[in-house]
Amino acid sequence: MRAVVVAGARPNFMKVAPVLAALRAAGQDGILVHTGQHYDAKMSDAFFDELEIPRPAFHLGVGSATHAQQTGRVMETFEPVLLETRPDWVIVVGDVNSTLACALVAIKLKEQLGLRIAHVEAGLRSGDWRMPEEVNRVLTDRISDLLFTPSRGALANLTAEGIPEDRVAFVGNVMIDVLSAQLPKAQELNVLQRLGVEPQRYAVTTLHRPSNVDDPDTLGAVLEALVKVAEHMPVVWPLHPRTEKNARTFGLGGLLDKLRTLEPLGYTEILALMSDAAVVLTDSGGLQEETTVLGVPCVTLREQTERPVTIHQGTNRLAPWPLTVGGVFQAFEDALRTPRIGVSFDRIEGWDGRAAERIVAELIRIST
Ligand code: UD1
Repeated sequence: MRAVVVAGARPNFMKVAPVLAALRAAGQDGILVHTGQHYDAKMSDAFFDELEIPRPAFHLGVGSATHAQQTGRVMETFEPVLLETRPDWVIVVGDVNSTLACALVAIKLKEQLGLRIAHVEAGLRSGDWRMPEEVNRVLTDRISDLLFTPSRGALANLTAEGIPEDRVAFVGNVMIDVLSAQLPKAQELNVLQRLGVEPQRYAVTTLHRPSNVDDPDTLGAVLEALVKVAEHMPVVWPLHPRTEKNARTFGLGGLLDKLRTLEPLGYTEILALMSDAAVVLTDSGGLQEETTVLGVPCVTLREQTERPVTIHQGTNRLAPWPLTVGGVFQAFEDALRTPRIGVSFDRIEGWDGRAAERIVAELIRIST
């Protein structure tokens, strides 16, 4: 079986790493394509090195642009890759623009090349169509042949949309495959000493969603709330390039300077920081999942989450919406009072470190 596996942006790299490894372990041919949606060394190359992801066979170099330009560039450059490699499967992961763009190219070539499309992390729904990721997810699921869901709830979402059962396989969460493999390494790092923070006496934050960082009032409110948190404990904040650019443009640089801002961190570094944090405040999907397995209280800075399992069976909570200084700070205080429950790989079904193995087993079963 030959599978083209697509990665484009930072959260994709953690998801393709275990899938490529499981393909290799099963003696199957996995061809990695990097669209280049993320390109800074700290947003891309760093993950290849530390997660031992093989160099991509194809790098499309699309870079940053408007949604239409970025999606269009991925499509134009991905088409010749499929014509050349003629895979049995195109595997796309997550919900970034590259995910949808490559799935679209693949479905147009489906008959001609006899390929099929698999979507890893299918069935997540926020119900908020203003999020580019929601559009990417729903459309990718609609055109994929095989939908690998990370949770029972995601499976239920697909059933509710009328997607037939034989197109769906509940396999669990590939992000937790990476977490379980990397946690021992993360625990050996001395990130805390390097930053001068003590276990459980600091907060970690990340923020990059357009709904939070493209609007000066919302970004200003979150920054003020974080400055208030910083009066109680250091706030460590690896800054996404988009957030840093916007904060400076909006004249909010003074608030940023009161926090422990850092350049984007590598996977094991952020994992080490999260696992010893008192509280994590974030708008990232991945961090909501990782804190659930780590048993660390998390405040999600969003109106809703497409990962409700992290709230129902985990440690996550939504900050009151719309985000205000008082609301975010109150959510931080509530989270701080939540007892820490420690790391567990059986807190949520399928979040056990073996999802990629199940994905590859299913692909092989269907292909033979
Ligand atoms: C993208 C994904 C989002 C994901 C996030 C993780 C879409 C629609 N969004 O958002 O779902 O959670 O990645 O980070 O696909 N930039 C750099 N260096 C880089 C990459 C980007 O400086 O290596 C800056 C550029 O100014 C760029 C901006 O970040 O315009 C936004 O990048 P883009 O890939 O469009 O979206 P993200 O906000 O990163």
